Amino acid sequence: MNQSYDLGFLGGGQLARMSIMAAQKLDFHCLSLDPGKVTPSSLIAPSLQGELSDPEKVAHLIIQCKYITLENEFIPVQTIRQALIIADRDPSCIIPGLGTLATIQDKLLQRQAYDAYGAPSPKAVALEGDYSNAIAEIGFPMVLKARFGGYDGKGTRYARTQEEFETHRPLIDQGNWLAEEFVPFKRELAVMVYRSQTQTGCFPTMETVQVNHVCDQVFPSGTDASAAAIAAVEAVQGYGLFGVELFELESGDFLINEIAPRPHNTGHYSQDWGGISQFEQHVRLATHLTCATPVGQETCMVNILGIELPSGTNEANATHTNSPLEERTGVDFARAELLRHHSEANFHWYGKAESRPGRKMGHINISGPDCRNRALAARQSFLESWK
Ligand SMILES: Nc1ncnc2c1ncn2[C@@H]1O[C@H](COP(=O)(O)OP(=O)(O)OP(=O)(O)O)[C@@H](O)[C@H]1O
Ligand SMILES: [Mg+2]
Repeated sequence: MNQSYDLGFLGGGQLARMSIMAAQKLDFHCLSLDPGKVTPSSLIAPSLQGELSDPEKVAHLIIQCKYITLENEFIPVQTIRQALIIADRDPSCIIPGLGTLATIQDKLLQRQAYDAYGAPSPKAVALEGDYSNAIAEIGFPMVLKARFGGYDGKGTRYARTQEEFETHRPLIDQGNWLAEEFVPFKRELAVMVYRSQTQTGCFPTMETVQVNHVCDQVFPSGTDASAAAIAAVEAVQGYGLFGVELFELESGDFLINEIAPRPHNTGHYSQDWGGISQFEQHVRLATHLTCATPVGQETCMVNILGIELPSGTNEANATHTNSPLEERTGVDFARAELLRHHSEANFHWYGKAESRPGRKMGHINISGPDCRNRALAARQSFLESWK
């Protein structure tokens, strides 16, 4: 067996990239697999190009790496199982476990796991037959969700009334949708949970603000949802690093929305808070090292989403230039302006080849008093200069 790499990533996007950066700090050698040729990860470490749904390609990565992890939960568990057989490897080389992954991949199975464990979460049922049972059981308003593959709200619809439900019928007729009760939450929270055979703990509970279903800002919440978040991870028998999304109700109670079995956008602040980052914790879990207790100072993160750029320009050619400051364009100019006005900002850019509206391109972390307002001002300064 030729395991030239310590850690392999299924996926080569920004989550793999930032995990690889943390792994490199520990002198680990990493490899990623992604359908794209040039990816955020391929810019900083060796990579393979191939479909994540192709067991042969996945096996090609698995054969070369001592430990394996993933950056999204959408690769079918069956594909990974086949790949393990081809690579002649034991499933224990992968974190998170495949049973946990299978439960998380199906939003209905996830809800059922929380119910069975007694971890509070919105009531949900499968949309089957003529849907009358689901409508009777959940009632309006309800939320419709694709059981598989949803992200950034792409598989989420609201049905406030029967009429609105009817407008979604053609979509849900395609199959594999669920209906769940609409939660009139006070705010949305997120907790990064780590769990190994010997250590379990949480990063601080953060408040998250979504705009158009995409995470926009993350900042300290002043509350502690650790117990509910750990219960969610235990409910899916999870080991590894998990981003747990929760709803906080007016009563102060917490309901579990969903779990991501990997680093999560709501944990990016930890890169610059002075303690261990979610990415290093993830790497430590995946390679069976001891976890650190997460402690740091108050930090806010704001996302930078893509914009429409004039045709012919893209990030790849705009970020690599040796021009003097006054000649810079695109991202180079915007970064220079950001740091000129907000020198305390921690700027993270993913190196994606193309900017598209709504696409996550980078983020800014700012620590200390009033970090939320200062992070928002820093982003404003970047966006005003990015053209
Ligand atoms: N039951 C609910 N009641 C009220 N709002 C909800 C409910 N479920 C989801 N939402 C809203 O829709 C957003 C997206 O839902 P969810 O997190 O389930 O989907 P997703 O697309 O998988 O998420 P992500 O953006 O985390 O990838 C939530 O962040 C929340 O704002
Ligand atoms: Mg979500």
